[in-house]
Amino acid sequence: MLKTHNCGELLREHIGKEVTLAGWVHRRRDHGGLTFIELRDRSGLVQIVSDPDHQRAHHVMASARNEYVLQVTGMVCERPAGAVNPEIASGEIEVLAQSVETLNVAKTPPFDINNSSAVDESLRLKYRYLDLRRMRMSRNLQLRHEVVAFIRKYLSDKGFVEVETPILFKTTPEGARDYLVPSRVHPGKFYALPQSPQQLKQLLMVGGMERYFQIARCFRDEDQRGDRQPEFTQLDLEMSFVEQEDVMELIETLTTALFEAVSEKKLQDTPWPRISVEEALNRFGTDRPDLRFGLELREVTDLVVESDFRIFSQSEIVKGLNATECGGYSRRQIDDLAEFAKQHGAGGLAWASIGSDGKVDRSSFAKYLSEGILEALLGRMHARPGDLLLFVADKAHVANEVMGRLRLEFGKRLELFDDNVLACCWVVDFPLFNWDENEHRWDPSHHLFTAPAPSDVSRLLSDPGGVRGAQYDMVCNGYELAGGSIRIHQREMQQQVFRLIGLQDDVARERFGHMLDAFEYGTPPHGGIAVGIDRLVMLLADEANIREVIAFPKSQQAMDLLSGAPSVVDAEQLSELHISTVDEGKT
Ligand code: AMO
Repeated sequence: MLKTHNCGELLREHIGKEVTLAGWVHRRRDHGGLTFIELRDRSGLVQIVSDPDHQRAHHVMASARNEYVLQVTGMVCERPAGAVNPEIASGEIEVLAQSVETLNVAKTPPFDINNSSAVDESLRLKYRYLDLRRMRMSRNLQLRHEVVAFIRKYLSDKGFVEVETPILFKTTPEGARDYLVPSRVHPGKFYALPQSPQQLKQLLMVGGMERYFQIARCFRDEDQRGDRQPEFTQLDLEMSFVEQEDVMELIETLTTALFEAVSEKKLQDTPWPRISVEEALNRFGTDRPDLRFGLELREVTDLVVESDFRIFSQSEIVKGLNATECGGYSRRQIDDLAEFAKQHGAGGLAWASIGSDGKVDRSSFAKYLSEGILEALLGRMHARPGDLLLFVADKAHVANEVMGRLRLEFGKRLELFDDNVLACCWVVDFPLFNWDENEHRWDPSHHLFTAPAPSDVSRLLSDPGGVRGAQYDMVCNGYELAGGSIRIHQREMQQQVFRLIGLQDDVARERFGHMLDAFEYGTPPHGGIAVGIDRLVMLLADEANIREVIAFPKSQQAMDLLSGAPSVVDAEQLSELHISTVDEGKT
């Protein structure tokens, strides 16, 4: 070993000891003939002082630059009174250097490693190996490790077996496009990278595994967002002989124990509230409600349907939000809100501010409504003097989307939530299918293998739109952290679902014949769930983007800025794979 101790671990108890350290020059300063270096390794920082009696060591330190890699041997000493640094764990001591070796030199980095100043993200991603030296990333990756280590131990203790499943597989639809891998030995054929190990974990249940989990890499070619990556990691698990309640309880107890073990944050509610997807949409405008604060949406369609204001009376739905105490907003601020609403799909934003007499003061629509309707509207919105009422009249999904976003925006503006609180809930009672207007067919709202709720099975063929799925989503602070379901385990029912979603028997056979066959050999009833590890760690690390908790993430444009992937490959490699590319510019 090139070192006897870690920098950040040296404390008073080490005073008088000779230690050898190795690490990076975090900061260097010369003062009164002495050189001070803050030496950094993964554990933290320690101050090294040049000792005038050791000329060579002093010389090496004086000529070192930031990010040089040094090996230092010296004596741990108490810092002089007044020089104690309470900011770092080793702040009461320093190391008097006796010998210093330069293990490697470094160019001036493209951004400072030794402070937390904001750096352009593409630069951080290009030099990710330097970014990883910064405290933020190091802390996040360590937290991620703790989360995964905890989960592995917890589930192993509960009788789960971790099984690896293939990355080269066949299409595993989860609602995104597949990443395809061409086969060299089978011209014209492709593997698909798994969007999740869904089918494989079900086949493990057929294989008698009973309790499986995996920290599984998943691949999805879909539009990027702050909480999405083309490759990401799930805690994937599956259990045989269980019902919905069993899976939910396991995840609830696991997550509660995990939060206690790795985080200072507090769970808002135990047990976690359960809320139907319909109620979530009504009250919060989204199936991913942030339950840390109220500010609930209210539907007022019934109150305005008879009004002369056609925008209100002729819309599918009118939804309102009471932005409490924002009645003093200027016209400019309100116009900005209307712009925000338009950007998210609304035709416009209707608004009314409430004066000190409790009546409408300024408004974009009040003059078109009768006294009676207006009064009922204010009543429904719980309007109080000084409030600002906002309304969107539109198709239900647009009104919900826009008002849901406005609710979050005002939650932030009005500082209605505490970042140290985790508000988890279960969203349940999803419809098994949604109607796809464009394709004129049913689309599974979770995935193809989700079973109907036991009470709705008999209506699967007669009323597919009215059937609920045995599905459960775990939501925390407005993020969908996990999704799972009880699965279909009978061939007949699986085939019916394939037909309902418009898969011809021969296509279903070609794509999913292995599942249909497996269901004929004594498949146990089973169910499971997958938790997004990146999103979970992102929440625990107080980060707003999952790239901050992934060592080498893809950019917003799904690129690896470090290596330049995806990149052009040479003609020979393509030819071996029997692939010719189309020049986009010429088509
Ligand atoms: P689902 O598609 O809901 O379910 O995914 C489960 C969880 O994985 C996370 N997640 C993502 N995280 C980052 N980037 C992405 N692109 C991304 N997509 C999904 C989310 C999500 O809740 N096979 C089923 C699970 C099951 O039924 O057991 C599945 O994959 O946190």
